[in-house]
Amino acid sequence: MQQVLELIEQKKQEFAQVALFKFMQDQSINPRRRLAWAPCAAHFIMNFGELNKYFLRVEPTNDPIQTLINKHTYEDDHHWLWFLEDLKNLEFDKSVNFSEALKFLWSEETKNARCLNYQLYRYTSQATPIQKIIVIEVTESTGNIMFSTASEIGKEIKAITQKPCRYFADFHLNVETGHMTSLSGIEQFLQDIQLSEENRQEAFELVENLFTAFTQFTNELLVYAKTHQIEQELKAA
Ligand SMILES: [Fe+2]
Repeated sequence: MQQVLELIEQKKQEFAQVALFKFMQDQSINPRRRLAWAPCAAHFIMNFGELNKYFLRVEPTNDPIQTLINKHTYEDDHHWLWFLEDLKNLEFDKSVNFSEALKFLWSEETKNARCLNYQLYRYTSQATPIQKIIVIEVTESTGNIMFSTASEIGKEIKAITQKPCRYFADFHLNVETGHMTSLSGIEQFLQDIQLSEENRQEAFELVENLFTAFTQFTNELLVYAKTHQIEQELKAA
């Protein structure tokens, strides 16, 4: 398993270099514009709770690894509530007809968000606890990069509006530690898991495919942020 975790770490460093994060770090752009991709991420963010509740979590269980996974899912299954709060905070909570909202969520311009969900479901549906742990480690590492960048923007916005963000904030980053819910010794425990050659190759493929799906997702978010005008800048409180 150690080689799999090393590959995840290497892919995480590459992921940190994608164009979306450069855009989000560019302080010459208004901070709200740097988060203007938020509506495009909705399908993924809303489904991430479901992934935790209905795919990663299995109860009851006697399996010690599944027990750790279950614990982790209770941390990660409700972050979408903070996202909805921030949509309001950031004034991205526009009124649209129900049919328009559905068309948007299933449109071409939000396709990669859905494809990322489908890949995550593919790799967690009827998966072994080890496969699920690998999925969690990948999602935690991408989440850690995203929220360490987004929380900085959240601070800039708070300085303007005096309204704290919750999703795009340290509040969120503090629970996206980059790894499974931190329990003492968990990293060593994971490293010591022995995988067969076949399982290791499958794990490498899973890691590569998920990072590809996450990267395509960020590319889609960047296009969306650059091509959708936001109507007005946030006003100072
Ligand atoms: Fe989260």
